[in-house]
Amino acid sequence: MIVRKTTESIKIPFSPPYIDMDVILEVTESLQSGWITTGPKVKELEQMIATMTGVSNVLCVNSWTSGAILTMKWLGLGEGDEVIVPAYTYAATALSVMHAGATPVMVDVLDDFTIDPDKLRNAITPRTKAIISVDIAGWPCDYDSINAILHAPEIKSQFTSANEVQATFGRPVLISDAAHSLGAMYQGKAAACASDITIFSLHAVKNVTTAEGGAICLNLPAPFDNEEIYKWLRLNALNGQTKDAFTKSQGGGWRYDIVSDGLKVNMPDICAAIGVAQLKKYESQLMPERKRVFEHYLSFFNMKNWAIIPAFEDADRTSSYHLFLLRIKNITETQRDTIIKKLADKDIATNVHFIPMPMLTLFKNMGYDINDYPRSYANYTCEISLPVYPQLTNEECVYLEDALEQAYNEVINDATI
Ligand SMILES: Cc1ncc(COP(=O)(O)O)c(C=O)c1O
Repeated sequence: MIVRKTTESIKIPFSPPYIDMDVILEVTESLQSGWITTGPKVKELEQMIATMTGVSNVLCVNSWTSGAILTMKWLGLGEGDEVIVPAYTYAATALSVMHAGATPVMVDVLDDFTIDPDKLRNAITPRTKAIISVDIAGWPCDYDSINAILHAPEIKSQFTSANEVQATFGRPVLISDAAHSLGAMYQGKAAACASDITIFSLHAVKNVTTAEGGAICLNLPAPFDNEEIYKWLRLNALNGQTKDAFTKSQGGGWRYDIVSDGLKVNMPDICAAIGVAQLKKYESQLMPERKRVFEHYLSFFNMKNWAIIPAFEDADRTSSYHLFLLRIKNITETQRDTIIKKLADKDIATNVHFIPMPMLTLFKNMGYDINDYPRSYANYTCEISLPVYPQLTNEECVYLEDALEQAYNEVINDATI
């Protein structure tokens, strides 16, 4: 039985990294090995992610964002090309498109925060080269509907290609922004198998981290040779250089060539070591602990008629339990902000995922208007992201839940807010 007590000394950060002795030992081993940048630990991490997800090839890079930019470089995207993205995501989703010189086309989301397939279909033009769907908070998109649209004869017939890669697809490419969803499942397989290319973030606040990092998972259809594309991406993640520094450092291996204008976005071994140690216990230990926290919130908020519970499981999908996107019925944005402030006053860090992109200065100045994305706006105004991580104890969950209920009651009974 859970004893409900409030404890003055409790402090709840939003997403502290999971650093245990195994992480420290793995990093120490890397430090003592004589090799700290891209080398055997990165290879080990890539193989672990490939095994876990079942995709054929994985390239680790230094962020989700750089992985997306590299992917667009491979697709040969540029001026005049359009990439459809949900309005409700972190800005990096759209910025990666802009870095490629292409135009992000924003569409609204569904009630569950994922891209709306009908809106997506209506936004496709002959210039649409790719879609970036976002598994927000770890909840997979409706991939069957998205794939059905992208493979529909009328969509394929209007597709225009500017190079061999695009021509081989013969349709818009589906890139999954899986920044939040390592471990999420779709129809009994890793959600990473549901799109052409899935990119995970391994940033410090993610379920598995390398401090900064990303992983590009290739699930390309025939006739693409995933191994060959992996090699292209690896080369272009390292200045277009034919040998990485590790290979060059082996006796007699100094000579190299530069064969393309590659980026420099490789992941160092010392970072990969953190991810290797975490991934070893992710499915057996870290994920079940996340689920425990998620279920704690579920059992509390399910009983509150003012709470809207986030999607986390249905016949096709299981979340990676990255965040708990709580929504509160019938509150204004100001009331939501006040609840967050009241929680912060009790040393409880919560968050909002996300401010829809059309509300951010850069995108507003480009002409995007939040009025065109009513569901994104409605979801945003009443959303509070609750922390989910293995170190969060049941006692801390109780403290947070009680504090949130109290803040909610105070706010709705205060006519001045
Ligand atoms: C949905 C989403 N996409 C992309 C990113 C960018 O990830 P990174 O910081 O690894 O570039 C983030 C980061 O928080 C994110 O939340």
